[in-house]
Amino acid sequence: MVLSSKKILLTGATGGIGGAIAKALSDEGATLILTARDEEKLTALKENIGNVRHQILALDLNNNNDREKLYGVVEKENIDVLINNAGINQLSLLEDTSDADISQIVSTNLVVPMMLCREIHKTLKQRPESVIVNIGSILGSIGYAGSTSYCASKFGLRGFTEAFRREVADSTVNVIYFAPRATDTALNTDKMNTLNEALGNAVDSPEHVAQRLIDALKDKHPHSYFLGWPESLFVRLNSLLPNVVDKALLKQLPVIRRFSQ
Ligand SMILES: NC(=O)c1ccc[n+]([C@@H]2O[C@H](COP(=O)([O-])OP(=O)(O)OC[C@H]3O[C@@H](n4cnc5c(N)ncnc54)[C@H](OP(=O)(O)O)[C@@H]3O)[C@@H](O)[C@H]2O)c1
Repeated sequence: MVLSSKKILLTGATGGIGGAIAKALSDEGATLILTARDEEKLTALKENIGNVRHQILALDLNNNNDREKLYGVVEKENIDVLINNAGINQLSLLEDTSDADISQIVSTNLVVPMMLCREIHKTLKQRPESVIVNIGSILGSIGYAGSTSYCASKFGLRGFTEAFRREVADSTVNVIYFAPRATDTALNTDKMNTLNEALGNAVDSPEHVAQRLIDALKDKHPHSYFLGWPESLFVRLNSLLPNVVDKALLKQLPVIRRFSQ
């Protein structure tokens, strides 16, 4: 896909990965509709990426009226690409996770992207060439202690993306699942950063993730993307030999328990 002529809706635009994606897409010449809840951060982002052609839209994706407002803008603007990037996480054992937190994580990371795909696909399928990107996670393929709700939401998003891609395979819309590994953003609290350090998990920069996404969008035959080595290997190993991964992760459990308190 040639990005310079494309109109792109990006959710979670003010976050670490979202901000880097916005800058990279703007540099490619795309026209952006940038959304998140915090209007001040959206205004600062628009100023920072320095282009008047972009629009900002402050809204809570978990709010029905706000989503209706977004659908209205999408219809008017004839967008070519939807990037479902907004997401939340919380490091906690399931026994310490409230009903409200479980609902909020699953709604923001899974239910909302499903609803946006359903509604915005109606506009995208009118375009000659269009793409939906659902931003998943390596934890959407490997179940991890301390991240049960997040894993449930991202496993769900991966399954949804595969099913929806097949459902619209005879249309002009490509549906991509794009899964970063740990990335240096505010999504990861100090506790999570210390845990990643203690476990020796590699952490990517948001700019690296954004560049990989640009490469994916330019790919002639887009597919699913799992970032990082050896994480992409573990994704395959976990699906083929889950018992091996169970044993490896059991060794990490005491450390994860300590940081999940
Ligand atoms: N960072 C990582 O280690 C990592 C690894 C793998 C995958 N990912 C995925 O990458 C995506 C981006 O993560 P990130 O690290 O950039 O997170 P982040 O820095 O915390 O940014 C999250 C973004 O989502 C927006 N958001 C959250 N809840 C929202 C809601 N209800 N309505 C509208 N916007 C909402 C936030 O803005 P407001 O708060 O202003 O609404 C912010 O723009 C997520 O899907 C995440 O799961 C991240």
